[in-house]
This record gives sequence, structure tokens and C-alpha cells, in this order.
Amino acid sequence: MHDIIHQLEEKRERARMGGGERRIESQHKKGKLTARERIELFLDPDTFEEWDMFVEHRCTDFGMDEQSIPGDGVVTGYGTVNGRLIFVFSQDFTVFGGSLSGAHAEKICKIMDQALKVGAPVVGLNDSGGARIQEGVDSLAGYAEVFQRNVLASGVIPQISMIMGPCAGGAVYSPAMTEFIFMVKDTSYMFVTGPDVVKTVTHEEVTQEELGGAITHTNTSGVADKAFENDVDALLHLRRFIDFLPASNREKPPVRPTPDPHDRVEMSLDTLIPDNPNKPYDMKELITKLVDEGDFFELQPEYAGNILTGFGRIEGSTVGIVANQPMVLAGCLDISSSIKAARFVRFCDCFNIPIVTLVDVPGFLPGTSQEFGGIIKHGAKLLYAYAEATVPKVTLITRKAYGGAYDVMSSKHLRGDVNFAWPSAEIAVMGPKGAVEIIFRQDIGDDQKIEERTEEYRKRFANPFIAGHRGFIDDVIMPHNSRLRISRSLRMLRDKELENPWKKHGNMPL
Ligand code: HXC
Repeated sequence: MHDIIHQLEEKRERARMGGGERRIESQHKKGKLTARERIELFLDPDTFEEWDMFVEHRCTDFGMDEQSIPGDGVVTGYGTVNGRLIFVFSQDFTVFGGSLSGAHAEKICKIMDQALKVGAPVVGLNDSGGARIQEGVDSLAGYAEVFQRNVLASGVIPQISMIMGPCAGGAVYSPAMTEFIFMVKDTSYMFVTGPDVVKTVTHEEVTQEELGGAITHTNTSGVADKAFENDVDALLHLRRFIDFLPASNREKPPVRPTPDPHDRVEMSLDTLIPDNPNKPYDMKELITKLVDEGDFFELQPEYAGNILTGFGRIEGSTVGIVANQPMVLAGCLDISSSIKAARFVRFCDCFNIPIVTLVDVPGFLPGTSQEFGGIIKHGAKLLYAYAEATVPKVTLITRKAYGGAYDVMSSKHLRGDVNFAWPSAEIAVMGPKGAVEIIFRQDIGDDQKIEERTEEYRKRFANPFIAGHRGFIDDVIMPHNSRLRISRSLRMLRDKELENPWKKHGNMPL
């Protein structure tokens, strides 16, 4: 017995030491924490229950039978974040570069299966050289087992990937199928083929950072949702982020008590909209004044800035916010913003999170690059997502709601539950100038006539009343009362029930 306990302690110690002091030091020198240090920082103190510490790989090729480290390059288990259950796996780069063997994959699959059974999120802290080269197809099989579980868990439990080191080759596809991907600046990268292959095939010279660093994926590709300064910053923000999410699709979002009164009046909102309809203003100001204590967790802040997406709370309950941003491309919808918002709307719908939509949209962005790029299909993604969503949907039109974009942005016609407009709202097929130039084409050249026609059009359509007459807008509200009116609506909608017709799944325009 004594011997066994001794052996147990020895094995535990070896597992805790991962790839040994030299490699741990090298990890620290790169500014990275170890797999265990990350878990410690991420979970509440003393809550981590580790599983499979004694699992070892089964490979005997290339001298691997002489090299085995308990845990096999990934630390797995569960614990709590602010008291709520979370499953976690953390790849250990100090052990075979965090590469994925058959055994390593089985450890990840085990916690994914358990998380699905009990209904709790899975967080992956990724830091891996990809498939364990010595294991060949066993490693590929392991990846596929993880992918399959990613898909089955999608929409059932939140899955979140934090990329904290390399993530290359087919390995990127597991994070790609999780709900959110976060990255750490300067130390993480993701690509399907690395710089060497790129050079051979396309003759492009590119660094790892340029090809797949955090800036690339948060600004250019839109693959990642947000980047953080370093490991500590990333893990602390991850804790804050998880607080917004329900544990599974069977739960409502968590409620966090707030001292912020639901009827807080914000007089400054009465002057948010400039007199000149072509002048931009910052929609973020409205968002932070609507949500509890100004706490807005923005997703993809550097990508497709013409639409804003993120989480906030109203009366303590999580809401998803989608808002056109007039400061970027006048708030037009384009390919990137449609995809960005569609994915966010679908996340909210999967996980019972009400959606608050703030509308100031002059339409879809015109041009060949958009048409050639397939704006028809991509724009339809957002339309599809809103139309399919059955969660509470509250919409507020602050200024422009023109054309197809009016329909798309959670309009009454797409089962918007409560649709408000500010007095400054303009709801029409298009803006006055464009409309007049089409329906009074014969008057072009006669500036005075065009001016008169434009004014006539503006008076008739550039207001919320025509939509109000039809009941497409439930009420025209004063900007300073927006928080009160939206919070009452959400309260009314708390037990909303709505189901779509039975189907295996829809076929959204991918
Ligand atoms: C086995 C690996 C490994 C791997 C790294 N190591 N990657 N061992 N399989 N895939 C080991 C190294 O041998 C080394 O061991 C230790 O991890 C650290 O690696 P270094 O190269 O010293 O670190 P660094 O210089 O920081 O470079 C990191 C790296 C590089 C860029 C990730 O190691 C690398 O290019 N690795 C190979 C990446 C790759 O091609 N993976 C396969 C991708 S394809 P020692 O003992 O010296 O510490 C793929 C297919 C998945 O993943 C398909 C799914 C469908």
C-alpha cells in the first residue's frame, strides 16, 4: 500500500512537471504560461478536478516507447468559474509540443462527452503542434473524434476556444467549429498551411504572424472573435465572458443582480442623432447607455465595424446586441457584417439569449466587389438567422431603416416581438435623394424641382409614422426612455414560447 501511494505521488509529480524544467522555462521565456498555470488562473481557486492524469500514449515507433509522460500533453477536467461548472482541456506545449495523439484526443473526448451529459460549457486552451507526427493515422482519427463531438455539441453546450500557441493544419477545424475563438497577441497563430508550404505553392513570403497571428484573424479574416494582450489578460477576460453565457441550451442566461435601475433615464440620448441625416454618430454610446452599468462585451470589435455585436445585461439578464454602426461605411450591410451578425444571432437563438437590435442602416453596400463576392447569399444569412430565431427579439430603429436592410434587421415581419422607433427614424424603400432620382428621373437637371420633390419625399417617408400606421412599429419612444421601454419589453417576453415547424434542419444559404 505504502509503495502504491509512493508511486502515485511520483506519477503525479511527473505529470505536474510536464515536459520538464527546461521546456517549462522555454515556455515562460516566450511569455506563455504552462497548461496548469493557465487552468489555475482560469478556474476558481481549488476547484479543479483533474481527470486522466495517468493516461499515456501507446505509440512504440520512432523510440516513443522510451518517452512517455503521464497526462500525454493535455490537462483535462472540470472546475468552476464564479461558481458555475465548466469543463476544460489545456494543451501542454512542453510535452511533445502539445501534439495530439490518440490518447490525448481520448482525454479531450471524455470531458466533452461528460459536459454534454451534464450540460456545461467546454473551454479549450489550445497550444499544440498539431497531429502527433509519430502516431500517424491514430492522431488523425483522434482529431476526427473531437470534430464529431464539436458538431454534436454545437448549439447544445457553449464551446469556446482560446488559442494560446500554435494551432496549425487540420487542427484549426476543431476551434473553427466551436462558438467563439479568442487568441493571444504575439504568441498564438492559426493556419491551415504554414509559411513554408505557402512559399512553395504560391511563392508568397509571409511570416507566421502575418499569415495567422491574432491581428490577422481579428482584423482581416474574421476567424477570431477577439485578441488579448497576454495569457493573464486572456484568461481573466474569458472568466468575464463566460459569465454572460447559459450553461446549455436547456437553461436561460444567468442573472447577475445589478444596482443599475431598469428605468434609468438617459437625457443625453435625446441629442445623440445629429441634425444632418448624413452625419455619423457612435452607436456604441447608445449600447453602453442601454446596458447594465455600461458593461458591454464586444465581439469582433476590429472586424466588419459597420455592425456591432456583443453581450450586455438588462435587469441582470444577458442580452445579445446587434447594432448598425453609422461610423463605419455609414452602417451599410455588406458581406462581412452580414456573416458576422448572422453567426451571432444564431448563437443567441441556440442558447435562449434575447436579441436587442439597434437599427440605423441605409441599405446593402452597392458595388461589384460585393455582388461578385456573393452579397446575395451572404446577406441572406442574416435574413435567415433573424427569421429563424425564436428567442425574444426587441428592435429599436434610431434613424435610417431603408430597403431590404429594414426587413432584415429584426423587423416586425421577421417575427420581431417589440419594434420601437425614435422620432428621428426614417423607414422607407430608400433615402430621399436616391428615391427622387428614380421616380422623378424626368426632372433631373432642374435643381429646384428635384429639391422640391426631395423635400416632399422626406416629409412623406422620412419619419416613423407610416410604419407606425401599419403597426410595423409598436411605438415611437423618446430616446431618453429607451432603457426603460426595452427592459419592460424583455420582462414581458421572459416566458415567450415560439417553435418553428419540425424539420431535420434548415438549409441556410452557406
Ligand atoms: C510530435 C512535435 C510536434 C508534432 C512539435 N513537436 N510538433 N512532436 N508531433 N506535431 C515537438 C518537437 O519535436 C519538440 O520536441 C517540441 O514539440 C517543441 O517543438 P519545437 O519545434 O522545438 O518548438 P517551436 O520552435 O516553438 O515550434 C513549434 C512548431 C513546430 C511551429 C509547432 O514544432 C512545428 O512546426 N511542428 C510541426 C507542426 C506540424 O506540421 N504539425 C502537423 C500539422 S498537420 P522536443 O523534444 O525537442 O522538445 C495536422 C493534421 C491534423 O495537424 C489533421 C486533422 C484532420
